[in-house]
Amino acid sequence: MGLYEKHILPNLVHAACKHRPAMRQREKVVPLAHGRVLEVGLGSGLNLPYYDASKVSKLWGLDPSPEMIKMAEKQAESVSFDVEFISLPVEELPLETNCADTVLVTYTLCTISDIELALREIARVLKPGGELVFCEHGVAPDANIRRWQKCINPVWKRIGGGCNLNRDIPGLIEQGGFRIKGMRAKYIPGWRPACFNYWGTATHV
Ligand SMILES: C[S@@+](CC[C@H](N)C(=O)[O-])C[C@H]1O[C@@H](n2cnc3c(N)ncnc32)[C@H](O)[C@@H]1O
Repeated sequence: MGLYEKHILPNLVHAACKHRPAMRQREKVVPLAHGRVLEVGLGSGLNLPYYDASKVSKLWGLDPSPEMIKMAEKQAESVSFDVEFISLPVEELPLETNCADTVLVTYTLCTISDIELALREIARVLKPGGELVFCEHGVAPDANIRRWQKCINPVWKRIGGGCNLNRDIPGLIEQGGFRIKGMRAKYIPGWRPACFNYWGTATHV
């Protein structure tokens, strides 16, 4: 891993993810998590203050970046539920089948390299009837913004730690065998190619 990935990228990701409109999105989805929760791509732990502690019995916080986990550990000091950190990519998820009531992903499906395997692993660990709660940015509905997303994506991906601007988030979730139960989508304030958000819940069928 180079100096950029180790020292600069984690701070850039943290700063970008603290964008106020994204923080408002967290308020909408994170409190839906309940029971035994797996957060995939925990990052610097920005979701931690938004969990409803009365509904969460345990949280597995997974992220392949030890630097991001270190930042999240600080945030976790102020939560009242048990948090276990897992420093691995979701493609190597070490949890047992049917162990989680909720899997939460925010602004992470854009970055995971093997998205099909990741969704299979998420489906595997979710109990029957368990929920995938998501809030992601992805492909925009407007042709001109989609053209920008396509054009900028190769450079963006290099500087953004593998982040893709134009993934079809609902399509990928459905192709992963999930049924989306409720979803909203809109531009949140900010740079439009990175700001079309999809958020909601899905169950595995
Ligand atoms: C844009 S950040 C979002 C962090 C956090 N979810 C948030 O909302 O603030 C994307 C995160 O996904 C993590 N990530 C990248 N590849 C991953 C993988 N294969 N499995 C799990 N997490 C991954 C990165 O390390 C990074 O922390």
